[in-house]
Amino acid sequence: MGEVSAENLEHLQELDESYFPFPWSEQLWERARLNKDYFAFFDPQCHGFAIFLLSPLDKLAHLTKIVVNPKFRKKGYGAAILNASHSHFRVLGIERCILEVEVGNRSAIALYERHDYKKIHLKKNFYSNGADAHIMEKHL
Ligand SMILES: CC(C)(COP(=O)(O)OP(=O)(O)OC[C@H]1O[C@@H](n2cnc3c(N)ncnc32)[C@H](O)[C@@H]1OP(=O)(O)O)[C@@H](O)C(=O)NCCC(=O)NCCS
Repeated sequence: MGEVSAENLEHLQELDESYFPFPWSEQLWERARLNKDYFAFFDPQCHGFAIFLLSPLDKLAHLTKIVVNPKFRKKGYGAAILNASHSHFRVLGIERCILEVEVGNRSAIALYERHDYKKIHLKKNFYSNGADAHIMEKHL
């Protein structure tokens, strides 16, 4: 885990482009690298990662994306990455995590619900394809 840095950027970007339904542009990755409030968590082999944007003043962490290489899904990597993130945020004094998830993304919603994220709001037409998003929140 750590900041999005020159060392890990290439791996994260490659995973994102290969397996995420809406990969980030080069500019977004560059913004994440330069902004020290973006925090990346990944397993040692980088089978998957999660990126959060921290708002320390609001004691809030926003999950901006999580993805696991399809070959390694359903093996607990997503859960391990979330658990590591939550533990780290508790130490930092972060009190809440929020995220958006496409309403049809059942595996992601199941993962979040198992980690006590609750649906708190529905955002209509949130994604560029017109899909709605659940806003989910977890108190740490
Ligand atoms: C959502 C995502 C990150 C989950 O990652 P994952 O590593 O597969 O998650 P986990 O393995 O921790 O948990 C997923 C499932 O595997 C099961 N599982 C966990 N460990 C297991 C094990 N050792 N053996 C068998 N099953 C296991 C979990 O119970 C869970 O079950 P489910 O099928 O009922 O959902 C992954 O599906 C993904 O990358 N999706 C595409 C990107 C995406 O949509 N991201 C979210 C955008 S908001």
